[in-house]
Amino acid sequence: MDRYAVFGHPIGHSKSPLIHRWFAEQTGQVLTYEAILAPLDGFADSWLHFVAEGGRGGNVTVPFKEQAFALAQVLSKRAQLAGAVNTLYLDEQQRLCGDNTDGAGLVADLLRQDVLLEGANVLLLGAGGASRGVIQPLLDAGAARIHLANRTVPKAQQIAQLFDSRVSAGSYAEVPKERWHLLINATSSGLQGERPPLHEQHLEYCQLAYDMLYGAEPTPFLQWCHQQGVPQTADGLGMLVSQAAESFTIWRGVQPEVEPVLLKLRELLRG
Ligand code: ATR
Repeated sequence: MDRYAVFGHPIGHSKSPLIHRWFAEQTGQVLTYEAILAPLDGFADSWLHFVAEGGRGGNVTVPFKEQAFALAQVLSKRAQLAGAVNTLYLDEQQRLCGDNTDGAGLVADLLRQDVLLEGANVLLLGAGGASRGVIQPLLDAGAARIHLANRTVPKAQQIAQLFDSRVSAGSYAEVPKERWHLLINATSSGLQGERPPLHEQHLEYCQLAYDMLYGAEPTPFLQWCHQQGVPQTADGLGMLVSQAAESFTIWRGVQPEVEPVLLKLRELLRG
């Protein structure tokens, strides 16, 4: 049977095995998908071992996305721009190919929720890997402008420099006074029970506030946006399922339906 796996450290919390098993059931694909805890200094060995045992493809999560990028022999354009790989597979010549479906997952999730990306001004909070990976897909989907706000300003500036003049960067205190239609939190602040230090004046024209994190309860950032009157809020569970669907399509050539899997996962999360 065709084998797939997600590699991470830690990996016990990963929802990917469940998501891909549900996708396989839904599409009638026969495969296995497991979670592999790779040693912090042994991602490459772990992957090569998996392939030697018949592994066909994999997802890569924290902290191995940059190592997967370095290991891949062929990189997609979007992986190159993200500087990270979350999807690995072997092509017909047995070359290791690296792709990144995170940004496409975010865009798909936004479109699923009827967000108008064409001409949108996007305020993107955070300047880590999560942030970098979604910029080009948002631009490709029609975003007019993306501003990165981050505590550590040089990190945001370095990322902005990789793109054209539609992308800018700065501190939270100096966010340009523009009509920000879409706010995306790509920081890990929610994991510490915090929210980024953004001034509420930037929420005035915001149609949707999105947090890439997810949990049983809305994140502190989403709670705050809701209290401030932002009409629509969404967490990152839909992005998780949508990026998985993109990976599944790359591996299997079949596109699974996101919505039923998302509903089941949401139920599970609520307990
Ligand atoms: P990832 O690859 O998941 O994006 P990362 O590279 O560790 O992870 O980046 C985490 C991001 O969250 C950074 O932008 C970080 O800001 P700094 O670059 O200034 O450290 C941001 N972050 C983490 N905790 C935060 C908090 N409490 N408030 C605001 N930003 C926070």
